[in-house]
Amino acid sequence: MRDFIIAPSILSADFARLGEEVENVLAAGTDWVHFDVMDNHYVPNLTLGPMVCKALRKFGVTAPIDVHLMVSPVDRIIGDFIEAGASMITFHPEASEHIDRSLQLIREGGCQAGLVLNPATSPDVLEYVMDKLDMILLMSVNPGFGGQKFIPSTLKKLCRVRKLIDDSGLNIRLQVDGGVTANNIRQIAEAGADTFVAGSAIFGAENYQHVVSQMRSELAE
Ligand code: DX5
Ligand code: ZN
Repeated sequence: MRDFIIAPSILSADFARLGEEVENVLAAGTDWVHFDVMDNHYVPNLTLGPMVCKALRKFGVTAPIDVHLMVSPVDRIIGDFIEAGASMITFHPEASEHIDRSLQLIREGGCQAGLVLNPATSPDVLEYVMDKLDMILLMSVNPGFGGQKFIPSTLKKLCRVRKLIDDSGLNIRLQVDGGVTANNIRQIAEAGADTFVAGSAIFGAENYQHVVSQMRSELAE
């Protein structure tokens, strides 16, 4: 069985009680904290910056913090997130003028690096930077908001990118973000994903542990 990671997106958490929410969701059996950074420029919404990441570390969060940058430009903010305690940083190729340089900046800062493909973005952009990637994130909704519906064409793209990774022989995680629920997680895993972001499906549930175990059992079958 593959090593599956569940990364709850704190975009759907109660921001007024963020530290406690993060503790609770990790205690419910999740692995990483997915940290959505939106700038009201690259995407039409405004969320969290490096200070909040730093505050979570100060609060005592030791789990990996998976920073998803939906900002443009990206280079300026990468250093701030490295400093703030990010574990991995992913960004959208459209948001960087020099993709290879941005990836190197992340790795040189000691973080894992990844690229994020929007639903309509072709995987061709991955070809010449595969050796600089620790993760590829396929968006299964258009970025900007939680609570949207999974776009089914992502399944086809997942199969294609899974093959690219397998053929490369490199150790690259394949992450999916947007509209992931306990009802579709198995199908998404079958298409090739090993890392699952879920926001509203987890934080919208009465009992986090219940929904996370449901997801785990779907993945185990
Ligand atoms: C969307 C964000 C996602 C979002 C996922 O731009 O990148 O991480 O929070 O939320 P759900 O799981 O509700 O689609
Ligand atoms: Zn995200």
